[in-house]
Amino acid sequence: MSEFLRLEKLYSGYDDVSIINGISLSVERGSVTALVGSNGAGKTTLMRTLSGLLPLTHGKIIFDNEPIGNWAPNQRVDMGLSLVPEGRLIFPEFSVEENLRIGAVTPRAKGKLTSRMEEMFELFPRLKERREQSGGTLSGGEQQMLAIARSLMSDPKLLLLDEPSLGLAPSITKFLFEMVIRVKKLGVTVFIVEQDIRSTLEIADQGYVIENGKIVMQGLAEDLLANETIKSVYLGI
Ligand SMILES: Nc1ncnc2c1ncn2[C@@H]1O[C@H](COP(=O)(O)OP(=O)(O)OP(=O)(O)O)[C@@H](O)[C@H]1O
Ligand SMILES: [Mg+2]
Repeated sequence: MSEFLRLEKLYSGYDDVSIINGISLSVERGSVTALVGSNGAGKTTLMRTLSGLLPLTHGKIIFDNEPIGNWAPNQRVDMGLSLVPEGRLIFPEFSVEENLRIGAVTPRAKGKLTSRMEEMFELFPRLKERREQSGGTLSGGEQQMLAIARSLMSDPKLLLLDEPSLGLAPSITKFLFEMVIRVKKLGVTVFIVEQDIRSTLEIADQGYVIENGKIVMQGLAEDLLANETIKSVYLGI
């Protein structure tokens, strides 16, 4: 596998407050890479910085060999970076199908909108059954499926997933994480941030642990799951 995304000593934050404090990490092409950590560790802030919604203050973001750290959000999407934001942020008044259409923002996605939508309905049959239903009336789990499918409509090369398990029952989370594996099999690299540390490391190849905007541990996901410190501090076993 080759390196697809690399962060070099990245810093960002809000006004004068630094939240991301020198993060370096890499995401291999074709992998599921996880960044796990507790509430307020800086996961969403990092995702917003990667997608260009929040400017970086220092450091580099290299995506597919391009330094994209100062690119506009839409340029990053065109290049194949797509964020599924925390809290889904689907359009509640629009139907499932309209939400998916809106996701096909890139020129390459517009050309194959219909076939792509069918692929999404294969991946999430539940969405197909509810294609006419307005987004806001879907269950939490269905809304998360829609948010993921909408992002995939842009034909991304790297999917950024911000806490898909938020507010969902463990059984739904398990289903969604199985879908993440299927997304990887479609050829999309996945970078996921989560506080459900166990479920996330179980589906990831590589993992990083974030505390106060810094990486405190990293390794193969299976090694992290077996790590005594992780077990006692994060998994409570
Ligand atoms: N718009 C903002 N302005 C100022 N501070 C913010 C803003 N958004 C987040 N923060 C602060 O940044 C820190 C990191 O927040 P962030 O949302 O990145 O955490 P997180 O790891 O995603 O947490 P969670 O698991 O709860 O989603 C927190 O202390 C938070 O209060
Ligand atoms: Mg968050």
